[in-house]
Amino acid sequence: MKNFLPGPTMVKPEVLAKLSHPIIGHHTPEFHELMSRLNPALQKLFGTRHSVFSFTATASTAMEAALTNAGGEKMLIVSNGLFGERWARAAARMSLNHRVMNIGWGIPYDPAEVRRTLHWGKFDSIILVHGETSTGMLNPIEPIHEMLEDWPEVLLIVDAVATIGGVDLRMDDLGIDVLIGGSQKCLALPPGITPVGISPRGLRMARGSFRKGYAFDFNLWQERWKKQEVVCTPAMPQLYALEYQLDNIEKETLQSRWERHLKLGRLTLEWAAKNGWKPCSPEGYQLPSVSCLIPPKTRDHTAPVVEAMRERGYLIDNGQGKLENGSIRIGHMGDWSVEETKEMLGMLSKAVKVKG
Ligand SMILES: Cc1ncc(COP(=O)(O)O)c(C=O)c1O
Repeated sequence: MKNFLPGPTMVKPEVLAKLSHPIIGHHTPEFHELMSRLNPALQKLFGTRHSVFSFTATASTAMEAALTNAGGEKMLIVSNGLFGERWARAAARMSLNHRVMNIGWGIPYDPAEVRRTLHWGKFDSIILVHGETSTGMLNPIEPIHEMLEDWPEVLLIVDAVATIGGVDLRMDDLGIDVLIGGSQKCLALPPGITPVGISPRGLRMARGSFRKGYAFDFNLWQERWKKQEVVCTPAMPQLYALEYQLDNIEKETLQSRWERHLKLGRLTLEWAAKNGWKPCSPEGYQLPSVSCLIPPKTRDHTAPVVEAMRERGYLIDNGQGKLENGSIRIGHMGDWSVEETKEMLGMLSKAVKVKG
């Protein structure tokens, strides 16, 4: 099966092979050496001089850790899709004081409205999903980065699970305080590794928090990070796979990887335009890594298309949440090439001919 899901995406056999690395102790010189190679490579990936922790946990766990460590007393969550809603749900379930700007799925946020909300709200942090996997939408960070010059005390927390390693994103240039990456999307790694970048401001905020627990206490991680150590026993095989894949990314270069993702996104949108399908996100806001496409009026259901692709050896997905049967989602990310994506789109042209 060729995996073009919106995550988890295809992982090459040679990357999977790294998962069979013998388990080593995490207090050994060998482990410290691994971390001393991993840490600078992750800093390069994130575009940061600050620390990037390698949590071997799902991104949702890291999202909760970001909220409890660095969210502060009052958080503003900008939400225009399922993952924006997930941030809000997580905050609500942990009884954290937050406000949600519910914009509507696939609708870009209005910087003037964010500005007004910041003006009246006295927030400690603002949270934004860079790549909304549910709608294939890219939320630009620059406008929020610029407006935060007027609110220098507000921390910027960004969910880059669907963009890290595939979309141009530089943590320090954009003044991001907590940047959450993801392994199972553009990095083309198995799920369960979440690199998290943290600024000194983020660490300061975390120092004052009473809710952060132990395992994901950012300051505890910071102490260990400086010594090439970790807080709890990590999933070593995942870290060896991460090291190997970061090496591959270095060889491809991050810039070429970003450009390749842009190309894959463009090819998919060209296919959509030619076949009468519409992206769920407006022009100028389309995600290079994931497309969410709404079928022409002549089609009632999208599930048969997903099934027809599966029968032809390709995994794509239905829409998510409220878009479940009204759209398809394709993950054109990670290590897929232009040629392989063209082949997938060729197959999609055949699959959409099925009734439904
Ligand atoms: C944008 C975004 N944020 C967060 C997550 C949550 O990641 P995980 O399933 O690893 O917890 C996902 C997963 O698809 C995602 O796409």
